[in-house]
This record gives sequence, structure tokens and C-alpha cells, in this order.
Amino acid sequence: MPQDRRKFLKSIGSGTAMVFATSSQLWGNANTSLSSKLSAFDKTTLATEAFWETVQSQFRFTERLTYFNNGSLGACPTPIREATNAFRDILDDFPSKYMWGGWDEEKESVREKVARLFSVSPEEIALIHNTTEGMNLIARSMDLQEGDEVILADHEHTSAVAPWTVWQASKGVQLVRPTLPLLPKSVEEVVAVYRKAITPQTKVLSLCHLVNTNGMLIPIKEISKMAHEKGILVAVDGAQGAGMFDTNLREIDCDFYTVSAHKWLFSPKGVGIFYAKQTSQF
Ligand SMILES: Cc1ncc(COP(=O)(O)O)c(C=O)c1O
Repeated sequence: MPQDRRKFLKSIGSGTAMVFATSSQLWGNANTSLSSKLSAFDKTTLATEAFWETVQSQFRFTERLTYFNNGSLGACPTPIREATNAFRDILDDFPSKYMWGGWDEEKESVREKVARLFSVSPEEIALIHNTTEGMNLIARSMDLQEGDEVILADHEHTSAVAPWTVWQASKGVQLVRPTLPLLPKSVEEVVAVYRKAITPQTKVLSLCHLVNTNGMLIPIKEISKMAHEKGILVAVDGAQGAGMFDTNLREIDCDFYTVSAHKWLFSPKGVGIFYAKQTSQF
């Protein structure tokens, strides 16, 4: 690897690795000057114009574009764009080398950072491409039989519904589609929707953490507890959750969680996260 590129990558951390963190952590190893710029802000100045101007200066878009659509594909900060392009250059410097391996240390360090971000262990994390792939991995890994039921409420994203409809068509698995209240008054009101939909045939609850239709936050922790008491697995579509708020997967205790880091975690496009709780890996 050319010396200047090696130096550059060292200075910014390892490409995608730097994106898996929140707030000040997020920028920590993006580059030293940015990190020191942001560390100049404390709790009392975090909400000031100066802070946000510093953040804004890390993004660039088509002229006169104000970008609000992180829910589809997130904005990518300049240090991350530069790191992504630098990695692509290294690959193109010696294509077949990186076709068969390489970057093991970098990938491991990303897995460790992701694990820390979600308060789990690296052995429970795999790096994938997006939430759609993750939900497919979950559904495809299950040995469901005719008559088994999967619960998917009416707000689920197509990407999370489609993998189960494959089992519906090919194996006769039943999809149960309860209706969630639009403005629930309590956590229990949402938990009760899932509880009532459960039958002795229910094998999986597949649900969004943060619903993309109306922004509703689903109480995963309470639903997981209820489902686990009945021996049912809980698979979570975290596409819109990760990066919007801190998520402790150990605490919410779902079995599977999947994320598109290219939304709210500012990663390069096509970087996703897959979590499988150690005791639910099979
Ligand atoms: C709730 C939800 N789930 C899944 C997805 C699919 O994400 P991706 O296309 O990154 O796989 C989206 C995309 O917007 C979404 O909002």
C-alpha cells in the first residue's frame, strides 16, 4: 500500500469503523482536527449555532440542497466519504488480493465498535449490507412448518414482511397482521396487541423498533419479555432506530436485530449490521 494512503487511513481510523458511534464518539477517530474541534463543546454549548455549524461543515451536497432524507439513505460526512474512496483505491491497486481476503483487523475492529455501541459481544455481530438482507437472513434461517404463525403488525416495512411471505407461499406459514393503535396511550396498549395475536402456533414476532410510517417507538423490551415467557422468538427491524437513540440490545433482550447503518449512523452506503443473541444462535 502506498505510504501516503497508509498514513491517511491511519489518521482517520479504519473506514467504516469510524462511523459506528454516537454523538462525540461518532467523530472521535474521523480525524484529529475535527475531534478536537468538537471536544471544545461541552454540555452547555452542545445546542449552540457554533456546534451545529461545525457539524454542518462536515457535509456537502448538491448546491442549494437541504437534505432531510436520512430515513432512506443517510447523509455521509466528508471524512467518511474520503475514507470510503481511499479504501476503494486500495482495492483497485491490487483487486484480487482483496477479493480473497484482507482487512481482517479492520473488520474485526468494526465488529468490536458495533458490539460496544449496542452493548453486546462481537461474536453476536455480523456485518452485512442492510436491514433487508438482515430480515431475510433471519427468516431464511428458521425451519418453519406449515401452520406455524409469524406475527407482523400492520406498520411493518415491506423489507421485513417480504421474507416471511416467501415462507407463506412455499410452506404454508401463516402471517398474522394485527393493527397497532396510531396514538397508543401506554406501553401496555401496544404489548397487548401482540399478546392477543399470539396463539399456540406462534413461532416468531417480527417487528420494527421505530416505525417508519408515524415514528412510533415500539416497546421491544416489554414485548420480548412477554414473548419469551411463551417461548416465542423476537426479530427486530432496527432500520430507523440505530443512531436515533442509544440501543442496549442486552437490555431490550430481543433475539435478532438488524440495521441499515447507511441511514442514521452515517456509514458508507451498503453497510448493515446483524445481531443474533448468543443463546438464540442456531
Ligand atoms: C423500517 C424500515 N425497515 C427496513 C427498511 C429497509 O432498509 P434498507 O433498504 O436499507 O434495507 C427501511 C427503509 O427505509 C425502513 O424504513
